[in-house]
Amino acid sequence: MERPWTPNSWQAFEARHLPSYADPAVLAEVQGSLTRHPPLVFAGEARALKQDLAEVAAGRAFLLQGGDCAESFAEFHPDNIRDTFRVLLQMAVVMTFASKQPVVKVGRMAGQFAKPRSAAEETQGGVTLPSYLGDIVNGIEFESGARVNDPQRMVRAYYQSAATLNLLRAFAGGGYANLRQVHQWTLDFMDRSPWAEKFARMADRIGEALDFMEACGVDPARVPQLQGTSFYTSHEALLLPYEQALTRRDSLTGDWYDTSAHMLWIGDRTRFAGSAHVEFARGIGNPIGMKCGPTLEPDEILRLLDTLNPSREPGRITLIARFGHDKVERGLPPLLRAVTREGHPVVWSCDPMHGNVIRSESGFKTRPFDRILAEVRSFFDVHRAEGSHAGGIHVEMTGQDVTECIGGAVAITHETLKDRYHTHCDPRLNAAQALELAFLIAEMINAEHALNAGDEQVAQAGLG
Ligand code: PEP
Ligand code: CO
Repeated sequence: MERPWTPNSWQAFEARHLPSYADPAVLAEVQGSLTRHPPLVFAGEARALKQDLAEVAAGRAFLLQGGDCAESFAEFHPDNIRDTFRVLLQMAVVMTFASKQPVVKVGRMAGQFAKPRSAAEETQGGVTLPSYLGDIVNGIEFESGARVNDPQRMVRAYYQSAATLNLLRAFAGGGYANLRQVHQWTLDFMDRSPWAEKFARMADRIGEALDFMEACGVDPARVPQLQGTSFYTSHEALLLPYEQALTRRDSLTGDWYDTSAHMLWIGDRTRFAGSAHVEFARGIGNPIGMKCGPTLEPDEILRLLDTLNPSREPGRITLIARFGHDKVERGLPPLLRAVTREGHPVVWSCDPMHGNVIRSESGFKTRPFDRILAEVRSFFDVHRAEGSHAGGIHVEMTGQDVTECIGGAVAITHETLKDRYHTHCDPRLNAAQALELAFLIAEMINAEHALNAGDEQVAQAGLG
């Protein structure tokens, strides 16, 4: 018999990385208020994403998940939302064209506010304060007032998520995501990149395909798939009091859904046995991601999968490998084999960001682009060797021209990191680096297909 589950059953489990609040009455009041706020997403949308992810699990589609490490109140601006959405769409076009497969697009957007921190405190100039835990919990300014955990911030995060999601829905469905337009942006953009020529050839072919369809009498304005796109939201389900308040029973199926986003994931620090975060995720019907780092053992991953997906529903679980460029080759195969052997229909996605953080000579936290690429390459290599589908990519990126990760075709150096280093948490790929990564992934997807089709030569060329 399965243990009973309720939206607050997690409270009887060990909860790490949850903030403590000085006044429980204020927390209760905020939670009460949030339960009366409208859901941000509808359960049917979460089920649609699960179906799309089931296609990825079956090897017939690819998952692109990306956005900020941490959204912030200060950077809340329509241009930022637009630019991140735009780069994700450009990346998706590049990958769709290469793979001839649908790309499922999921933003780390409209709710990615809470952060687990390795150190509980931060010291600057001899002063020690509690760490910044994300704008939904406390403030980033290094002063004691800002670092007080305030439940009211959840309400602000809710409204910012609602407004962000509203714009994303408008972009996705209102004509902005029109395929001709996306490919035009990318053309303009690529002018400045060494990848421009390669992209121009691909763009020409997309243009020809669209012209051909029009000549055949297909009016792109009347084809919904060319006019708009499906775009989903996701964040780490870390701040359980907030997630609980947005968890509602679906009127159609009677099942529980966390309506704060379409997809929620469990972080590498909170996916241990007996974790409150695992208990919470177990009972919601949304697609669930789980980060898999170097400390995860095969036995443990199987126990977690049995807890989170006892009925082995395809698309329910996305395993997000984040080992580090030098650990993935050794760490991933044992997990992959265990999961495959037990017949769990999961999506395997690669987060090449969180295992590749270094401290730069200039003091900034950064990620070398070549290590990011190396991890993605190894991830594809491992899947190729094991005969499984490298199903997705999970990246921290922004549409802004920031200088946070070193390297890339338009190289950012240790010296230039300081120029536009804006992140509220981890270093993100900028727009050019994100697009460059998409091109390289497109080549790897192509190689996987060539291999499946028995074309050894193309496969080798793509992966070389
Ligand atoms: C994150 O995705 O921002 C994160 C904290 O990742 P991880 O749990 O893999 O460390
Ligand atoms: Co991060």
